[in-house]
Amino acid sequence: MADFNVKENKFDYVRGYTIDLDMKTGMSSMKETSKRYLSQMRGMFADDEAYEKMLKEQGDVLVYEFHEMGVPEEPGNLAFGCSITYPGKVGDEYFMTKGHFHTILETAEVYYCLSGHGYMLMESPEGDWLACELTPGKALYVPERYAHRSVNVDPKEPLRTFFVFRADAGHDYGTIETKGYRKLLVEKEGAPAILDNPKWK
Ligand code: NI
Repeated sequence: MADFNVKENKFDYVRGYTIDLDMKTGMSSMKETSKRYLSQMRGMFADDEAYEKMLKEQGDVLVYEFHEMGVPEEPGNLAFGCSITYPGKVGDEYFMTKGHFHTILETAEVYYCLSGHGYMLMESPEGDWLACELTPGKALYVPERYAHRSVNVDPKEPLRTFFVFRADAGHDYGTIETKGYRKLLVEKEGAPAILDNPKWK
C-alpha cells in the first residue's frame, strides 16, 4: 500500500502529507519532540522549596514534550501534534505544562486524550476558570480566550493528547510565567483537588 501522487517531501504544507504518529504513545519515528525539563519550569510550581529540593535530589527530569511540526504560521493552516505530560509532583502539585494563552486570544484549540489520566486547566483573562478531566477517548474543546495547561494526575502513566489549532494563533507564555494561574491542581487525601494559587498576581 502506498500514497498516490504524493511527493517525497514528508512535511508538504502545500499539497498535504501523512505522518506516522503512534496514537497510543503519542510518539513518531519521523518527528522529534520539543522537551521541557524541570529546570525550565522554575517559579511555575507553587512550592519553590519542594521544587529546588526535587531538582537537587532527582535531577533535571523531563516534565513534558510535544511536537512542533513547523507548519507555516498562516491563518488557513492548522498546527497539530501530540503532547506528553509525565507523572510526578512538586510538593503536592502535579506535573503540568507551562500553559499559555494564544497570542491571537480569539483562537480555540481541540485536544483528544490518547492515554493516561489528567486535566486541562483553563482560565480566561476575566477570571473564569474550569478544569476538564481527560481520559482516553475524550475530546476537549478549549474555547477562544482561555489559557490552557495539561496536568497529569496519574501516579504512573504519562498523559498523552493529540492537539490541533489554527497555525497563526501564536503562544503567549509570558502572561502565565509572570502572573501564574489562579488555580492549582494538587493531590489532597489521594485525589485531585483545586486550590487557589498563593503566588497568583
Ligand atoms: Ni494552545
